[in-house]
Amino acid sequence: MLALQGVTAGEMRTVLTKARDFERELRGRRITPVLQGRTIANLFFEDSTRTRMSFSLAAKRLGADVLDLSSSDSSVNKGESIRDTAANVAAMGADALVVRHKASGAAALVARAVGTQFGTSIINAGDGRHEHPTQGLLDAFTIGESFGRLDDFDLTGLTVAIVGDIASSRVARSDITILNALGAKVICVGPPSLVSPSLSVLGCTVSHDLDSVIDRVDAVNVLRIQFERHSAGHKALASEGEKVGGATLAKMPALSSVREYAELYGLSARRTGRLKPNAIILHPGPINRGVEMTASVADGERSVVLKQVHHGVAVRMAVLELCLGAPRG
Ligand code: CP
Repeated sequence: MLALQGVTAGEMRTVLTKARDFERELRGRRITPVLQGRTIANLFFEDSTRTRMSFSLAAKRLGADVLDLSSSDSSVNKGESIRDTAANVAAMGADALVVRHKASGAAALVARAVGTQFGTSIINAGDGRHEHPTQGLLDAFTIGESFGRLDDFDLTGLTVAIVGDIASSRVARSDITILNALGAKVICVGPPSLVSPSLSVLGCTVSHDLDSVIDRVDAVNVLRIQFERHSAGHKALASEGEKVGGATLAKMPALSSVREYAELYGLSARRTGRLKPNAIILHPGPINRGVEMTASVADGERSVVLKQVHHGVAVRMAVLELCLGAPRG
């Protein structure tokens, strides 16, 4: 599972349907430990809270053993390459490697170097700006649940705005792919420096004016401003950080100021008041409160942010079972 691009709508629906069934089984505490005796290794070369913990929980719910490696306390610190690290963990008998890395293509590299040699499944848990396939799946699941589409995950007739730092976002690329495949319309919204017109090749429309689209969408997926992925110029300006919503943030070359970004693209009570009555607000997390949205919007009744996190466990159970369900050959 390296990316959603190249996966058919039918295959996406198979994962989502299995996730839906797992959620029902979890409510009834009737989970069969189908991965008993199998080993899942989390290889996280970049920070994570939600993805890492929910993959661990998903694996444990299915009876698997879980290994955890983070770059901060492993031999990666001594200069070991991602390829050698992955090969060593696969050699211990891991059946799946769940890989998070700041470089686009890292999971594919591990798959080429290790997957075939050891018969190990490789699951991309977010690679640079490329894709975050399980986030795309759980976002589609959450939208499907919110609009009563759990039977067929057909999202036809829904319009989703993806707002913010799309230039840096692997979540956006996975979301655009799955939402289009399931029939939704996608509008990417943000300043020209973060939302390129060329995104339209992915099958979405582009707008630089959130106020002109806010009243006609069914869901708004607000993306984090990824300060850590912006240019070195941004870091040089870090000492000029300004305080917005309690967080100390830096001025970014991509934007004239964080405060201006919050004014033009942040979800405030005033702006969310213009949404359709049933419209929902998503965010993959972590949230920069006061920048992408105010605290009251993040915690408000339209927010499905914690539902996304909840569904992430069942979605990852589905992915693990589909990748590993058959006994190792
Ligand atoms: N949504 C997401 O990927 O969050 P983490 O970075 O905490 O895993």
